[in-house]
Amino acid sequence: MHYQRFQYSELSEVQRKALDEAERISQNAYNPYSKFYVGACLVAVGGQLITGTNFENAAFGETICAERAAVVRANAMGLRGVTHIAIIGHGEDFDTTEVTAPCGSCRQVLYELSQIRSGHLEVILSTTKKDKIVVTTINELLPMAFGPRDVGVNVSRY
Ligand code: THU
Repeated sequence: MHYQRFQYSELSEVQRKALDEAERISQNAYNPYSKFYVGACLVAVGGQLITGTNFENAAFGETICAERAAVVRANAMGLRGVTHIAIIGHGEDFDTTEVTAPCGSCRQVLYELSQIRSGHLEVILSTTKKDKIVVTTINELLPMAFGPRDVGVNVSRY
């Protein structure tokens, strides 16, 4: 798979803002086990930015990723129409050298969110230092996805 790579300076203003907000919120990660910091920032149709960060658990499997934290926040704010999500991560004592991409569970949840409005969601992935940036879509990250239509439900009015 060939992903489109960008320099930070090549991003649009909204893409840059989302990435910068994701970076800012990553400092709030609750990550005593992995010590890995992830920030995510959704952009709603009206331009609002909704951030999320990872929240770990001593029962490791119950950890909530930054992306899903942002999705449930947006939902609670009544914002289900979203256009972009930016994601960035760093270790306690290392910077990432490859972009942080969403886990499989988050891809499924982001796909659901994308189906509520346009069926399209742009995904901006970055290394810690923003020296490698990939701009892709949820449809590219989760091909042949299982979604609302597969269970006979139209979510476009939610
Ligand atoms: N994590 C995220 O929050 N999002 C991702 O895209 C990858 C992984 C978190 C979960 C866990 O707290 C830590 O990163 C290490 O897996």
